Amino acid sequence: MEIAIKELTKTFKGRIAVDHLSLTIGQGEFFALLGENGAGKTTTIKLLSCLMKPTSGDAIMLGDSIVENPQAVKKKLNISPQETAVARNLTVKENLEFIAKIYGSDKREAEQKAMGLMDKFGLMDRAKSKGRTLSGGLERRLSIAMAMISEPEIIFLDEPTVGLDVRARLDLWQILLDLKGQITIILTTHYLEEVEALADRIGIMHKGRLHALGTLEELKEQTGQAKLQDIFLQLTAEAEIQ
Ligand SMILES: Nc1ncnc2c1ncn2[C@@H]1O[C@H](COP(=O)(O)OP(=O)(O)O)[C@@H](O)[C@H]1O
Ligand SMILES: [Mg+2]
Repeated sequence: MEIAIKELTKTFKGRIAVDHLSLTIGQGEFFALLGENGAGKTTTIKLLSCLMKPTSGDAIMLGDSIVENPQAVKKKLNISPQETAVARNLTVKENLEFIAKIYGSDKREAEQKAMGLMDKFGLMDRAKSKGRTLSGGLERRLSIAMAMISEPEIIFLDEPTVGLDVRARLDLWQILLDLKGQITIILTTHYLEEVEALADRIGIMHKGRLHALGTLEELKEQTGQAKLQDIFLQLTAEAEIQ
């Protein structure tokens, strides 16, 4: 079972944001969607997680269509959005318990889940800190922990490391590396080092279209460039003239 995206398209008032995107992502894969601002990464994630309906096309998420059966799809995935949904006036623990209750846990189970995730994501010593007091890195960790409450098979991480300092970014990478292989991870970023450190496969989007796809090694071969930065510059320059 996998993710099979077929001619997925989204237009906003006639302007195309995602343009006939076709792509297959394997179960358990760590896939990085790379692209400049406005490339269509967030829109793609919103379509795949059924937060938005496609204008045309479809995606089959582990057997269920986002068009035909969004309710079934929603049960299998979760998202740490570009702007996190951490409640500023709840503590770390309360944020997690709140989400657990939304997913049907009683008080005891919600607390158990919160404890387990705080442990896994290195948040235990901040259990009683309010959302608004968290650094960017901790807020993002909490956001990902919140997405893990529903035990998704697929998780979307939309630019999780934007604005983080180097230390926080490296800490988050370690957390993502620990998750890698356990569930399917789809990450958007415009940091090339991130892709290099984490991803099994890379898709480069440009103006709504998938312009390149492969492992880092494959993209190196395809472009004749050794450095990821040069690969990216070459591919986006190519996309621009097409
Ligand atoms: N809700 C919306 N209404 C109108 N245009 C939108 C909306 N969401 C995104 N867009 C447009 O779609 C394009 C892709 O945006 P987005 O998916 O956010 O790109 P990225 O996440 O790669 O920066 C942009 O041109 C953006 O302005
Ligand atoms: Mg975005």
